[in-house]
Amino acid sequence: MKAATVRRYGGPDVITLEDLPQPEPKPVEVRVRVTAAGVTTADARLRANDAPRGFGLILRLITGVIRPRNPVPGMEFAGVVDATGTGVTGFLPGQRVFGTTGMSGGAHAEFLTIRADGRLLHQPDSLSDAEAAAFFFGGLTAADFLLDKAGLRPGERLLINGATGSVGSAALQIARSVGAEVTAVAGRANHALARKLGADAVIDYGAGPISGQWDVILDVVGTLPYPRAKGLLAEAGRLLPVTATLAEQIGAALRPRRGTHRISAGVIGEGRAAMERLIRLHRDGVYRPHLGRTLPFAEVRAAHALAGSRHKQGNVVIVMAQTAASGAQVRSATGVNLRDPVDGGLG
Ligand SMILES: NC(=O)c1ccc[n+]([C@@H]2O[C@H](COP(=O)([O-])OP(=O)(O)OC[C@H]3O[C@@H](n4cnc5c(N)ncnc54)[C@H](OP(=O)(O)O)[C@@H]3O)[C@@H](O)[C@H]2O)c1
Repeated sequence: MKAATVRRYGGPDVITLEDLPQPEPKPVEVRVRVTAAGVTTADARLRANDAPRGFGLILRLITGVIRPRNPVPGMEFAGVVDATGTGVTGFLPGQRVFGTTGMSGGAHAEFLTIRADGRLLHQPDSLSDAEAAAFFFGGLTAADFLLDKAGLRPGERLLINGATGSVGSAALQIARSVGAEVTAVAGRANHALARKLGADAVIDYGAGPISGQWDVILDVVGTLPYPRAKGLLAEAGRLLPVTATLAEQIGAALRPRRGTHRISAGVIGEGRAAMERLIRLHRDGVYRPHLGRTLPFAEVRAAHALAGSRHKQGNVVIVMAQTAASGAQVRSATGVNLRDPVDGGLG
């Protein structure tokens, strides 16, 4: 099979396409023929060993000290069950599935194996393969922070700092469904998108310091640590630092209360219950992942460069050759064809 590989940490140019043996499913595993895979900020961070300050060594201990332990990157995928281990129930060859391999990676390849009782679910027909591949990263993060950590309530004023990327575009949709009054911070070029996804007001981060009062601040980009966010939080306001340094995370864990304010940081839960809740939100018409760019697998380097840019719209997805050839799945939620190859392909 063709697989993207990262044999040393670095920029997008360290990625190569290699021929690797197809993985064999263990008795409890399913082999998935990948049709599309998300290329997320986390994939770009892992490839570059670029963790928020303080997490660099911890990240290397998890992913490999000298070089990535699993050379195949990628977490989020959509695909078709190709084979099942002898002990697998609940999945049959040919069924459309989607899920996430988490930190173990392996999704930027034509085939992957994953435990059947792990983070693997049946794909709803209402999602294209590209949308299914972009479903979980931003959506799980936004739902965890807004619903679980903040307990966002109708009528509350919410500021989303970094509102049109993967996490922000999901957060806008979820916040709208809760009935919050949402202010989105993004570059001017993305203000129309923010409004379309649910923002009541928009702020250009290039136009000077932010001013106002909010009940909840979701800081996706990490430019509003508590000392800066303090003056923007209303009485009993909650700060949600999605991208926190190690010191900020420890500080939030040891001292979550600051006067009437509360800080809730941490890594999100990606268990099946959280995944199933997100699927329910999709079925209820609340959430659909926003597709920014959808690129052929051969352009995985360009996809990684976009994912690490900190300025992408929604989600970046790579589609495998057989999916791209059909043309059927390479479209946005609005039906606009987003297959728009950019330079940097590996052929
Ligand atoms: N805690 C957790 O468990 C967890 C889980 C998932 C993700 N994360 C973290 O979440 C972060 C963001 O993820 P993402 O995938 O949503 O990012 P992304 O897709 O790259 O989106 C970045 C967003 O930030 C905006 N932005 C860029 N510079 C800004 C600035 N100076 N001020 C305000 N907004 C700015 C961009 O707008 P323009 O494009 O208009 O510039 C865009 O809307 C990553 O650092 C990731 O590691 C944490």
